[in-house]
Order: sequence, then structure tokens, then C-alpha cells
Amino acid sequence: MAFGVYVHVPFCARRCDYCAFATWTDRDHLFDAYTRACRREIAEADLPSASSVFFGGGTPSLLPADLLCSILGVIPRTGDPEVTVECNPDSVSAATFEAYRNAGVTRLSFGAQSTAPHVLASLGRSHTPGHLASAVFLAGAAGITNFNVDLIFGAVGESVDDWRRTLDDVLAMGPAHVSAYALTVEPGTPLALDPARHPDDDDQAEKYALTDAMLGGAGLRNYEISNWARPGHECQHNLLYWRQGNYRGIGCAAHSHRDGRRWWNVRTPERYIAAIESGRSPVAADEELTDEVRNLEALQLALRTVDGVPTDALPVDPALDRLVHRDGGRARLTREGRLLANEVALRLLPQG
Ligand SMILES: C[S@@+](CC[C@H](N)C(=O)[O-])C[C@H]1O[C@@H](n2cnc3c(N)ncnc32)[C@H](O)[C@@H]1O
Ligand code: SF4
Repeated sequence: MAFGVYVHVPFCARRCDYCAFATWTDRDHLFDAYTRACRREIAEADLPSASSVFFGGGTPSLLPADLLCSILGVIPRTGDPEVTVECNPDSVSAATFEAYRNAGVTRLSFGAQSTAPHVLASLGRSHTPGHLASAVFLAGAAGITNFNVDLIFGAVGESVDDWRRTLDDVLAMGPAHVSAYALTVEPGTPLALDPARHPDDDDQAEKYALTDAMLGGAGLRNYEISNWARPGHECQHNLLYWRQGNYRGIGCAAHSHRDGRRWWNVRTPERYIAAIESGRSPVAADEELTDEVRNLEALQLALRTVDGVPTDALPVDPALDRLVHRDGGRARLTREGRLLANEVALRLLPQG
């Protein structure tokens, strides 16, 4: 049975002002202690063998590669696991990728966001388009050719042509997977306080349609609202989340799920390290899902994917005709429906 391990790496060189993830820019002195704490949490967890491992952040590639690989080394894995590391294009080198490959990393996820210099500046990113091209080249030279590129559309100052060029540039690099996210205004971020830089819905809808057409045309199939992959290269770890599989989160702010019970660790690296070092549990809180909630969540998650939901999970209503395509007993979102997925999800009917 599929089982995933997520390792949270809460360090970044600089904070992007749209980002609400649990990450810090002034905690590099914790690298060693954090690594030790993660290794200990894993050792004490008695984990089943993982079919997928995902190092996410923050910026996992900012952690010295030997430390990251030492965490991977203590995670029990199946014979042929998917092992992904999120990388910022300007915090990697040939040596990073060599170390990753030797440790069993099979997949990289580059946080590219755009290839237009003025859009990267508008997003507050530290890397240049050249960093991405060079990172992809170095990874390939080290033998890791399976990679995802994360993109964001809708930053202020990004024209439709800028976005088209970004997609063209990225496709030319031969990714097996692309995640393209509409820029989201997260509460509490500097972006939230600056309405002049908030994205425009119509602009994002146009860019989403362009994304789907261009990526689809290049052989990358949309399999979740914001994710496209060459057939066979879908991210197994994300599929596990979307299919309500069991996974264990390691590190601060990491979430876990087992058979309807969810729990999550304390948010800051200091509190996490202190808990582990003193032999206390790092868990901040947990919840038990009722069957009813689990079933509804299963439908909400499946609706966002190419699997879709059983036809009778949505009412027969002409208002849904443009948003949902019904075929072979399943109802799946159309391209237009994917833009309005939250509204469609409100119409889901409990099953069973
Ligand atoms: C966990 S983040 C970290 C990846 C890596 N540190 C980076 O930023 O390059 C994963 C992805 O989420 C996306 N993301 C983060 N905040 C976002 C926001 N407010 N709106 C849309 N996408 C966002 C970005 O594409 C980012 O690459
Ligand atoms: S978007 Fe990525 S690099 Fe930027 S602050 Fe968030 S985790 Fe760090």
C-alpha cells in the first residue's frame, strides 16, 4: 500500500512577500540541530516503508546536501520510491545534485515562478532565468532528469505575452511535470497589505486557459487543477494526498494522516527541536475525522483531479453544464469548471 513521508525544511534565503509557508530567513544556525531532530523523530516513529518521500519547504536545497541526505538515509523506503526535493534555482550546484542522486533522490521540483526578469522582481524572487536553465542542466548532468517546474501567474506587471514566453521557455527545458499556480493573496503577507499588486481574476482566467492549451499541446496532461504531467510522471506523493492516503510529516509544521486521524507538529523550528531534544512529542494538535467528513473530503479532493466524482455526486442542473462533463459514470471539471472548482464543490452531494 502507498505510504508517503513529507519532511519540512523551514529555511529560506529570503522571504517572498506572497508566501505564507512556515519558513524563516534567520535560522541557518539551526541547520544541524534541526537535522538531528528530524532524524530522531524518524527513528522513533517506526515508519512503514515509504513509496514516496517529499522534501518541501521553505527551501530544502538551502540545507547543506549532506544534512538533507542524512535525513533521507534514515527513512525506510520501498524498492523503487519516488523521492522529490524542492529546490530554489539559485541554491544548488553540481555537487548538490551529485549528492542527491547518490542518496536516492529521483525527482526535483524547481521553484521557477517565471522566466521574465521583471516578473521575478515583482514577485520578490532572488534568482534569474539563467539560474533555472543552469540548475536544470546541472541536474541532468548528475543523472536526475525527472523534474517539475513550479510557476506562478498573475503577478502585477506580467502581460499575457510574458506568461506565454515563460511557458515556452519552460517547455524548451523538457520538464516531465509543471505546477502552475494562480498567484494567491495569503492573509498576513506583505502582498495582502498592497491591493495595487493584487491579481486580476480575468487576467488569471485567460492565463490559465493559455497554460492548459500550451502544456496540453506539448503532451503534459492536466491531472489536477494546477498540475500537468507527461503520462506516467504524475507526482505520486501528491496523488497520495488527493486520494486520502496515509502519510507522515516530519519536522516543524508538518502534517500527518493515518486512516482518518490527522495531526500536525508545532510550527517553529525552535519549539520542534526543543520538544524532540527533551523527549516530548512535537505534536501540536490532532483531529479525528468522522466518516461523513471523510467522504465529503474524498469527493472534494477527487473533484479537483482528473478522476472526477461519481455522476450522482452532483445535481442535474443546467448551471453546471459548462462546468462539468459527465461521461462513463464520472463527472469531471471542464477547463472552465476548474477555474470555479470551489463553487462546484459547494454543490457536492454526500454519497452512500
Ligand atoms: C512550498 S513552496 C516552496 C518552493 C520553493 N521554496 C520556491 O519558492 O521556489 C511551493 C510553491 O508554492 C507556490 N506558491 C507559494 N506561495 C504562493 C502563493 N501565494 N500563490 C501562488 N503560488 C504560491 C510557488 O510556486 C512555490 O514554488
Ligand atoms: S515561496 Fe519559496 S523561497 Fe519564497 S519564501 Fe516561500 S518557501 Fe521561501
